[in-house]
Amino acid sequence: MKKVLVIGSGGREHAIVDALSRSPQVGKIFCAPGNAGIAAQAECVAIKDTDVESLKNFALENGIDLAVVGPEVSLAAGVVDVFKAAGLRIFGPSKAAATIEASKDFAKQLMAKYDIPTAAFETFEDYDAAVEYVKKGSFPVVLKYDGLAAGKGVVIPETFEEAVETLKDMLLDDKFGKGKVVVEEFLTGPEFSFMCFVDGLDVYPMTLSQDHKRAYEGDKGPNTGGMGAYSPVPIITDEDLEFSLEHVMKPTAAAMVAEGCPFTGVLYGGLMKTPQGPKVIEFNCRFGDPETEVVLPRLETDIYDVFSAVADHTPMPELKWTEEVTMGFVMASKGYPGDYAKGFAIRGTERVESKIYHMGTAMKEGELVTAGGRVMIVVASAPTLQEAQAKAREDISKIECDNLFHRTDIGNKAFK
Ligand code: AMP
Ligand code: GLY
Repeated sequence: MKKVLVIGSGGREHAIVDALSRSPQVGKIFCAPGNAGIAAQAECVAIKDTDVESLKNFALENGIDLAVVGPEVSLAAGVVDVFKAAGLRIFGPSKAAATIEASKDFAKQLMAKYDIPTAAFETFEDYDAAVEYVKKGSFPVVLKYDGLAAGKGVVIPETFEEAVETLKDMLLDDKFGKGKVVVEEFLTGPEFSFMCFVDGLDVYPMTLSQDHKRAYEGDKGPNTGGMGAYSPVPIITDEDLEFSLEHVMKPTAAAMVAEGCPFTGVLYGGLMKTPQGPKVIEFNCRFGDPETEVVLPRLETDIYDVFSAVADHTPMPELKWTEEVTMGFVMASKGYPGDYAKGFAIRGTERVESKIYHMGTAMKEGELVTAGGRVMIVVASAPTLQEAQAKAREDISKIECDNLFHRTDIGNKAFK
């Protein structure tokens, strides 16, 4: 029986642990650092997801057969390189390949060089030059901080004055960190998340999902890590999917090989179906969160075999997906994605029939409490998205907590 180490502590990692626990080959799952929900299905280990040396030592000392990396921060810290150098098997991209997410500018330059459809853009380090450029353009305009910002580094000002404020925050005051800004053309159309298992030139598509990035109902409010998702996405046709695979995902995998940083792991295409066809909004170098929580419950293939095929560069088993569809509603701490308080008791989860993946929870004096911005996701499965939505709504109403909010309109975009 195999021993697996999952790195990370959110809903995505909970869904990965859950999928691994369905594999008949997997005997023991560790999760570093994990959370209160993951602790029911895996042994949590108190090592930070960026402490790659300690993670490697843990894997060596405990005879780990395979490590699976969730968060981008671990990948950007070089966890895959460190594990491989120690002769350990690990699923995820190298630090060099993870740059496709860690630097928006790298991703945009790659797309420009290899003719991968994306919004027109320009990158700036200089505040005055950025202001001049924005002044000449149209609004809204898209401003992206060129570094990891947990889904919060994108601002879409409606006016020149707002744009100047944001550029000040990003380039003069370093409010997001020290980094460049990508100024992008504003595109319109429905968004969808296209995650693929990638091993160099080989690209194996997963079923589609759609995230809900804005904090409040009707896609209002600030961008978040994601407030809910569902899978599959009926508004995306087979032609859209084919185009996205052939003109985006496969050429991007090939571009990474050509650039000397072949990608192994999950390449996440955040795409928009514009009037001119699908275009790339962003690439991520890992499973999406909350997309993973609605996609992996639909995977029928043994996920240990899938991870192994990528990690070992061996043939991929056929990816099979359930007919049942999924819909997930995120419960977040009031104030998120801004400041929020923690430590509020969460009750009623035992009455919920759907799956619950914990995103930011902890145990305090024997009680489940909030411990993050996004706290948990309730994922309902049903024959149709309408039924899944109704079930998720009913289940989420059973959870009691004084400091949580959620969007009730997750999935409505599927019914338009
Ligand atoms: P990102 O972190 O790059 O995915 O951006 C976060 C969100 O901002 C996306 O999910 C979109 O909703 C929005 N966004 C980013 N880039 C654009 C763009 N060029 N045009 C319109 N909306 C965008
Ligand atoms: N849900 C978007 C992301 O994982 O970046």
